Amino acid sequence: MTNKNPVFCALDTPDSALALDLASKLKGHVGGLKIGLEYFMANGSKNFSDFSKLGMPIFLDVKLHDIPNTVAGAISSLLSLEPDFITIHTSGGAAMMEAAAKAAAEAPRKKPKLLGVTVLTSLDSDDLGQLGQDVITVRQVKRLALLAQESGLDGVICSPAEVKMLRDVCGPDFILMVPGIRPSWAASGDQKRVMTPREAVDQGATHLVIGRPITGADDPVAAADLIADEFPA
Ligand code: C5P
Repeated sequence: MTNKNPVFCALDTPDSALALDLASKLKGHVGGLKIGLEYFMANGSKNFSDFSKLGMPIFLDVKLHDIPNTVAGAISSLLSLEPDFITIHTSGGAAMMEAAAKAAAEAPRKKPKLLGVTVLTSLDSDDLGQLGQDVITVRQVKRLALLAQESGLDGVICSPAEVKMLRDVCGPDFILMVPGIRPSWAASGDQKRVMTPREAVDQGATHLVIGRPITGADDPVAAADLIADEFPA
């Protein structure tokens, strides 16, 4: 079941003991782990090998955004952790993404896949207008995803609402990692536009990021299994 399981559980906590305990319990019940800024700002690479030792794919969601040379350097510094995925902001531009892809390609052992963040889902067209980007949000997402693809990135993070469109324009091999996922039995929390795990995959998602429906459940392993049941081996 693990091979087919597209779910990356978001370990959104600064507490390394809690994160590791949850990750250990979820081994074999989810497809991978997402370690984001909340964890990484508190702990850095300290204890990272404890997660690697679990043998589960790791998505390091650090959303890098800086000049090309600095982002390339940051990627190089992360290579020793051997994450499977790293995120960078596509709005850093083509040269930044190309520099990041080149740095990732120079991995001595495991090359991480680079995923682009397009337009943050917390921003709507009015927000983009305030930033001087007078564009329709979905067009900007499409433009940035295509730029990411041309610049050598392996995929993008996208909302459920964008999956189908991006699958059509970016072709079958582009990775689409999708948060904002809610099983039909779970509360949506602060996620406004949600989709069930099965729906998102049917529309073209390759990986799903799910946090609170698993981490906030009374029995996280049972919740993960219920989600995994949507993807029979
Ligand atoms: O708990 P929940 O399932 O909502 O967690 C979703 C995870 O995906 C969190 O780590 C959140 O930061 C991340 N995320 C998101 N929406 C985005 C991008 C990332 O919820 N647009």
